[in-house]
Amino acid sequence: MTNFDPESIHDVKGVPVHSVHRHDVVIVGAGLAGMRAAVEASAEFDVAVLSKVFPTRSHSGGAQGGIAASLANEEEDHWEWHMFDTVKGSDYLGDQDAIEIMVKEAPVVVREFEHMGCPFSRTREGRIAQRKFGGHTKDFGKGGPILRACYAADRTGHALLHTLYEVCVHNRVRFYPEFFALSLIVRDGVCRGLVAWDVIGGGVHVFHAKAVLFGTGGYGQVYRITSNALANSGDGLSLSLRAGLPLEDMEFVQFHPTGLYQSGILVSEAARGEGGYLTNDKGERFMERYAPQKMELAPRDLVSRSIQTEINEGRGIGGGPYVHCDLRHLGADKIMKLLPQIHELAWKFLHVDCIKEPIPIQPTAHYSMGGIPVDIDCRVLIDGKSKPVAGFYAAGECACVSVHGGNRLGTNSLLEASLFGRRAGKAIVRFLRETRDFPELPSDAADAAIAEVERVLSAGGSESVGAIRTELKDKMSAGCGIFRDGGKLEKLAGELRGLEKRFRNIKIDDRSEKFNYDLLEAIELGHMFDFVELIVAGALKRQESRGAHSRTDFPDRDDEKWLRHTLAWKRGEKVEFDYKPVTITRFQPKTRTY
Ligand code: FUM
Repeated sequence: MTNFDPESIHDVKGVPVHSVHRHDVVIVGAGLAGMRAAVEASAEFDVAVLSKVFPTRSHSGGAQGGIAASLANEEEDHWEWHMFDTVKGSDYLGDQDAIEIMVKEAPVVVREFEHMGCPFSRTREGRIAQRKFGGHTKDFGKGGPILRACYAADRTGHALLHTLYEVCVHNRVRFYPEFFALSLIVRDGVCRGLVAWDVIGGGVHVFHAKAVLFGTGGYGQVYRITSNALANSGDGLSLSLRAGLPLEDMEFVQFHPTGLYQSGILVSEAARGEGGYLTNDKGERFMERYAPQKMELAPRDLVSRSIQTEINEGRGIGGGPYVHCDLRHLGADKIMKLLPQIHELAWKFLHVDCIKEPIPIQPTAHYSMGGIPVDIDCRVLIDGKSKPVAGFYAAGECACVSVHGGNRLGTNSLLEASLFGRRAGKAIVRFLRETRDFPELPSDAADAAIAEVERVLSAGGSESVGAIRTELKDKMSAGCGIFRDGGKLEKLAGELRGLEKRFRNIKIDDRSEKFNYDLLEAIELGHMFDFVELIVAGALKRQESRGAHSRTDFPDRDDEKWLRHTLAWKRGEKVEFDYKPVTITRFQPKTRTY
């Protein structure tokens, strides 16, 4: 069953392999997708969850405003309306079979959370409270914003995450906190486990598994201004690419309209859902110009473009790179009851009391619509289309199923992560019931990971990892942000190649094993280089504007040529592309206005 000998590798390479662990299921990432899958699979099988950070510090906890479900607790709603909004929000790039599953199962998933003990906010009648969010409407877009986002004040992700952690602990899920995944072991189309670094104790650990799930989250850290946690460096995407697998629709990067000015920390869309306004330097509610019907509750791609246009045309506050989110008219009671975290964040980071002053905000890199291509049971697809890798699954932001297409609606992310995490858990259980033996662990299982650690720990060049990472973030923000064009993208591609060359000549100050963040940051930066190239090359290829991908040189959507998903592989130095059709079932593409 295993040819793997940790001692021989220790002798040969000098990097200690501390242990070979064996679990039926190994999940990487302790966000909503990973832990929801763990809850499901741990009822029957031995499940381990590895997390780069302590599980309850996973980035799902940063999601604030809500989780979408057509519960109709306070007004009429239907899964068909939710489906229409999601399809239209995706600019018709979302796969409608997957979207239909998501919106139909959403109420079940939310009620399960309630039964697990999630402390949702409540209506007067004691039902789960629901609020308005951008792009969610009544009656197939004919009516106004609808109460669909189920929430726990403005800490919804936090409440859901802690609920899942408690159930996982109850189910005896084995956690490996502060373990950093280094490589995925896939041979002959079969996933056999993965290799990880123990951040606290140092050393390489091999995880031998029958099934592996990635719930590794997003990569906002490749942008200068981002709502994402420091840990969000897209590691899972890189490990998939390195295992020879493709990524899908990477050119679609979501900018949340309202990040706190300068830090990019999320100011939840709930602020606008509860009635907050966006105003420019002239005090105008400028959304009147861009989305006269839905105003501040238009979808994110549109609101972010509108804010950026105001800033670019000199109507930012004082001519600067930000506008205002004004909550003052909501009053202290509503703000402190429904938006307490926003109040706290604005105060702590900007010294703004949003009861008395408007909050300075700017668009912030928030979410990746693209990711590891999976089918509706979260099985990762070798060809990106239909052929699964045996035993390898992905769910949540790192995966592309694709329910968000070109643009995600707010609150569909907590939904997607939990719902497809749950589906992945169920699919893994079905797979394990038929898979009695562990796949063979090859003798070279840990070689690539060990070589990488060795290379970084012995790096004797002159370039600073931090400086290169900062330049990468600045250049991505300048060349591949909200508005893109061919010239800027070409220039960026060249700059990234230059930076990557410099990356090969890094210096490392800390050569120790324990708590070595020099080592981790260097490995993370290597991961970023793997996939940013795909974002830029994909954005260059896609000569149209759709959802969050806005090309000023191709301002229109072009369904004839581009109503299709991008698949991209990294083969040696080259990026190779293929395409696949969008699944359209109920709603034919139409002009998208709000
Ligand atoms: O604005 C927010 O609260 C973010 C929600 C989301 O990204 O779904």
